[in-house]
Amino acid sequence: MKILFISSEVAPFSKTGGLGDVAGALPVALASLGHDVKVVTPRYRDLRDAGRLSPTGQSLQLRFPFGEQGGPILSARMSERLEVLFLENEFFFGNRHGLYGDAWGEFGDNARRFAYLSVGALQAAQRLGFVPDIIHANDWQTGLVPVALRRGFQSTALASARSVFTIHNLAYQGQFPKGVMADLGLPWDLFTSEGGLEFYDTVNLLKGGLVFADALTTVSPTYAREIQTPEQGYGLDGLLRRRSHRLHGILNGVDTHEWNPATDPFLPERFGPRELAGKAVCKRELLRRFGLPEGDAPVFAIVSRLAWQKGMDLLLDALPTALQADIRFVGVGSGEGPLEEGMRALQERYPKQVSVHLGFDPALSHLVEAGADFFLMPSRYEPCGLNQMYSLRYGTVPIVRATGGLVDTVEGGLDGNGILFEAFHRAALLAAFRRALSLYADPLRLGDFRRRGMEKDFSWDASATRYEALYSALVAE
Ligand code: ADP
Ligand code: GLC
Repeated sequence: MKILFISSEVAPFSKTGGLGDVAGALPVALASLGHDVKVVTPRYRDLRDAGRLSPTGQSLQLRFPFGEQGGPILSARMSERLEVLFLENEFFFGNRHGLYGDAWGEFGDNARRFAYLSVGALQAAQRLGFVPDIIHANDWQTGLVPVALRRGFQSTALASARSVFTIHNLAYQGQFPKGVMADLGLPWDLFTSEGGLEFYDTVNLLKGGLVFADALTTVSPTYAREIQTPEQGYGLDGLLRRRSHRLHGILNGVDTHEWNPATDPFLPERFGPRELAGKAVCKRELLRRFGLPEGDAPVFAIVSRLAWQKGMDLLLDALPTALQADIRFVGVGSGEGPLEEGMRALQERYPKQVSVHLGFDPALSHLVEAGADFFLMPSRYEPCGLNQMYSLRYGTVPIVRATGGLVDTVEGGLDGNGILFEAFHRAALLAAFRRALSLYADPLRLGDFRRRGMEKDFSWDASATRYEALYSALVAE
């Protein structure tokens, strides 16, 4: 099949979270199944590996009511069957740092920027003579893709393509004032609640994807069920229930080349399930890098966006009690001001036990996964979550709240590979800390937990095969 995959971030070129990881890895797995894949994404100013890009000789020219915009299409060839296309535009992407916003908040022209990506991706396929069987869009930034496919491109060669829309996070919906309809040239008959983009008198771009795509997916089976409930549906659960026959939960995989403790170039020493000695070396290096005294105390860690979703407020609430035990806490994270402030304050109060690095640092995140004993994810909700899988692969026992993809990947119980807690409550989290401490005090049992986690298969192969089956079914319809 020919697959056009559209995402606002693609690792290793750009990434603010798991979407970047998925858009970097799933297309690789699809291409190795024999499909022709083109990924389309913006050419941001601060792109990593920008040296790999070369011109295609083609460019976009789009006309919106707000004006004409265009720019070159660049390309990075990843393998014989996989190419990443970058839409360059000075006005939307080239003139600023950041993907979606900066210290001042979200960019004010995000509706225009991601309309440019969505419509531009379809035009890029046309310009390059690529006629896809499947067009796969992701999250609100590309919600207009299925809409444009039905309403703007219906008399082009693209019209026969089937569309898939993946929800990586239902809480981020791309909601804008209704003036955006006219600004982007969206026909007013689409401004309806039933079968349109209207949502409490605003324009909801995510809803466009949910209404118009031929199939919907989300990134774990448990989250697929949760988003059909009022508690987790963020106002869209009714629509998702109506389309539930079209909604599939397909668990994310992980990039097993990037996240492999036996080959990881960011570690001072490598290790594997049968040879854990290197993990102790990583722990020493981790403590050194974070400026904490050496010792045998268990190290608890986070690598996270500091956001409400991630339950970082709950963690900050529980840690002063947990730190009465002889434990260490290290964190790598960035995000909401008050949470960053909270982390900083904790470090000042417990300088011998707590050390945090406030920023986005992929290299350091590898060392944390390798050197820590326990990895904390007390999420309020979690569509899939990737770090718990990285932790399992690195023999670091995840402590997670029983929600979304965390339930589908971490096994609790006496012969599991991690620690789960149910209630989003301080006492429940502290009870999980207590279970971690007793596990740590029993090296044989701890070794078994680690080994079971490290031996579990989280490669993309199984998930990519599920997407492939879904695509085939759509094409055959
Ligand atoms: P989400 O996408 O909701 O943030 P995921 O667990 O799916 O959560 O993915 C997060 C990804 O972003 C992981 O690869 C994680 O290592 C990475 N990440 C998050 N915060 C940081 C940070 N401060 N530094 C480096 N990597 C980070
Ligand atoms: C979102 C979710 C996260 C998921 C990621 C990739 O950012 O918050 O749980 O793992 O997308 O699908």
